[in-house]
Amino acid sequence: MRVLGIETSCDETGIAVYDDQQGLLSHALYSQVKLHADYGGVVPELASRDHVRKIIPLIRQALAEAGSTPDDIDGIAYTKGPGLIGALLVGACVGRSLAFAWGKPAIGVHHMEGHLLAPMLEEDAPEFPFVALLVSGGHSMLVNVEGIGKYQVLGESIDDAAGEAFDKTAKLMGLDYPGGPRLAKLAAKGESVGYKFPRPMTDRPGLDFSFSGLKTFAANTIAAEPDDEQTRANIARAFEEAVVDTLAIKCRRALKLTGYKRLVIAGGVSANTRLRESLAEMMAGIGGRVYYPRGEFCTDNGAMIAYAGLQRLRAGQQEDLAVKGQPRWPL
Ligand code: KG4
Ligand code: ZN
Repeated sequence: MRVLGIETSCDETGIAVYDDQQGLLSHALYSQVKLHADYGGVVPELASRDHVRKIIPLIRQALAEAGSTPDDIDGIAYTKGPGLIGALLVGACVGRSLAFAWGKPAIGVHHMEGHLLAPMLEEDAPEFPFVALLVSGGHSMLVNVEGIGKYQVLGESIDDAAGEAFDKTAKLMGLDYPGGPRLAKLAAKGESVGYKFPRPMTDRPGLDFSFSGLKTFAANTIAAEPDDEQTRANIARAFEEAVVDTLAIKCRRALKLTGYKRLVIAGGVSANTRLRESLAEMMAGIGGRVYYPRGEFCTDNGAMIAYAGLQRLRAGQQEDLAVKGQPRWPL
């Protein structure tokens, strides 16, 4: 089975062709980062229009690179939600319509299921069951993954997502959008000078997160300290350590609760080096392993949607003819 995957939930147009025998045949990505940079964040209407401009050329490109014609495609998967409604509708409209025109089944995929299964695109993919830490710009959650479609959310953020906290704190530091990776880069130059950032919600049982307090703590620290590059790097480091520690503590709890030794991390923040190193060390300590997708599949992409859609289509699921986007959609 060969599936065309379409991702347009936010500011990346991602298209890919995945084949269950041959693996990933092609993937094409267009990032709108430059378009939104002047505004300090994603402008939904501009995002939708840019998806409209890029989606068809990228589909042509991905098909050509896969050596596929529409006849070779057995189904089309597109991100149905959660995300920006206008952006989602571009992918849903094109995906659903092409599937109709080509006489193939279509399937709407949950964006976070895409992230969750992204490590499956790697050669050394984890076996089920595992605990997944999903940390993106819109979501932070811990999930007990027993198999495809068997997801139990163990905990999630009650306010800002981890990536959102990175982005907002970066903005406070005067870093350009998208701030997460820039803050991480600055943190690498920072020294440990004893800032006492909290580890939110770790002093009580449970697996939920809260990151908005860390952003406020960062704001107060920035206001109280001198405004020079090294001080900012030190604060960035302390902030990053607090987020990473908090995530690691909750992961350890989730592993203890489930008894699993496999941890998957996915979503944009899983590209963070300190997080990867900290979780690798923690997993080695309990005789387990951490899995994550290659860098380009941590952030939004079409390959993860093609993969997740293929699993759903193979299980016999498909969409009716309506074009639907679901901006809010629990996993
Ligand atoms: O998964 P993703 O591409 O989009 C969403 O579905 O939200 O995640 C984007 C998020 C942004 O908040 C970005 O700042 C964050 O991931 N991010 C990082 C790093 N790379 C991306 N945060 C911290 N460190 C990084 N290296
Ligand atoms: Zn995402």
